[in-house]
Amino acid sequence: MEGFRVTGGEKIQGQARLQGAKNAVLPILAAALLPEGETVIRDCPDIRDAQAMAGILNTLGCACRLENGQARVDSGRLCRWEMPEELSKQIRSSIFLLGPILGKLRRATVTFPGGCDIGLRPIDLHLKGLRALGVRIREDGGVIHCDGGSMRAGNVYFDYPSVGATENVMMAAVLLPGITTIHNAAREPEIEDLQNFLNVLGGRIRGAGTKVIRVEGVQSLRGAVYTPIPDRIVGGTLLCAAAATGGEIELLNARPRDLKPVTEKMKEMGCGVWEMEDGLALKAPEKLRAFSPLHTRPHPGFPTDMQAQMLALSCTAEGESVIVENVFENRLSHVEDLRRMGADIQVCGRRALVRGVAALHGARLRARDLRGGAALVVAALGARGESTVERADLIDRGYDHLETVLSGLGARVERLTGGEDERKNESGIAAPFSARSAG
Ligand code: EPU
Repeated sequence: MEGFRVTGGEKIQGQARLQGAKNAVLPILAAALLPEGETVIRDCPDIRDAQAMAGILNTLGCACRLENGQARVDSGRLCRWEMPEELSKQIRSSIFLLGPILGKLRRATVTFPGGCDIGLRPIDLHLKGLRALGVRIREDGGVIHCDGGSMRAGNVYFDYPSVGATENVMMAAVLLPGITTIHNAAREPEIEDLQNFLNVLGGRIRGAGTKVIRVEGVQSLRGAVYTPIPDRIVGGTLLCAAAATGGEIELLNARPRDLKPVTEKMKEMGCGVWEMEDGLALKAPEKLRAFSPLHTRPHPGFPTDMQAQMLALSCTAEGESVIVENVFENRLSHVEDLRRMGADIQVCGRRALVRGVAALHGARLRARDLRGGAALVVAALGARGESTVERADLIDRGYDHLETVLSGLGARVERLTGGEDERKNESGIAAPFSARSAG
């Protein structure tokens, strides 16, 4: 199991280009089994979740290769509708395959999906959406059997705008004759990106980015080349890293609109933020200030995927910050490790009250989920002394070589490799690991 060693106190300074967005790429890879012919996804990040998705596509009979920053998917030999249990349990987004498999083969079998340990993540809305399209669903001991023999276009109403359920219905409906309308759809930028991708393949979808999406079914789709949007959460994480170290950064391909909820909060903290022609720049103040209460919400509200990093930042901001996690029920597990660094945080249910302290100190830390892990790296960059963050594999699920990106910006971050037994030795921070060059 790998980790990161972070030596705090170095200012982040420089320019970075953002990887393709994980949460755009995963549904796009799933949708790549719909067209005839080969699809090429450019700017495909080298992350564990994309590798797992590629593994599932290969098991289903599609040929999927990830190399040189590209994904190539040939759906020509898609033949299986049963998703492999082991891989499906690894990533939540395996559930996104339900819609496209049904759309193409009219039947599908999935195991209840896995993913980050951030609370109960039911799939009732996915199933409700598919039922509204005529899919007959039977659940049997954690396995979900879907029969799409009588599928037809229809009206889908979500009482909560689930990202994954919206995407699943879009992918299931794109090849269904007639018009499907999704009401109270999720509005995240990644939904718009999926619409754009499906339309490049020959689909007819409009409305993504608003609450109502209209899918006019087409007979077939054909392969194409597509570049997904840049990752707004990686962008936000790098902005936090710059702010935590009193540094400055230019995100060359960031889309300022996608990062607005985050940059508005960072302005409250005293950061200078500039929109560039095709990017975004941030300069941190001498001392950060606390922000007004932060409530995570579906887009265009504050993204839950940036909550942990902002919480880490608030630990050394002057004054009191309140953070309320509304989207997931168990997404504050980073608090325990931040306290080990000297942070003053009180948690009551889904609400955290952070009283800013002068500085954090290095400690031995452990990522519990993807974004919480990234938040610990952010905190360690701004802290005094050395920290180790264990379970780099969780961070690797969504960040393409984070240590390389941060090292390129002047930070001191190394990847460490070490055995399970060695990591149990609580006494030494760096000794049990051997360092691997960040480059
Ligand atoms: N929910 C239900 N029933 C459902 C589906 C969702 O109750 O059928 C609940 C969930 O339990 C959760 C809330 O609705 O409490 C939001 O879930 P949503 O379906 O919107 O999220 P998701 O599709 O599972 C995607 C991202 C997440 C991101 C959320 C919210 C991908 C691959 N994942 O998940 O990304 O947090 O939307 O924006 O797109 C991450 O990148 O770290 C991450 C967790």
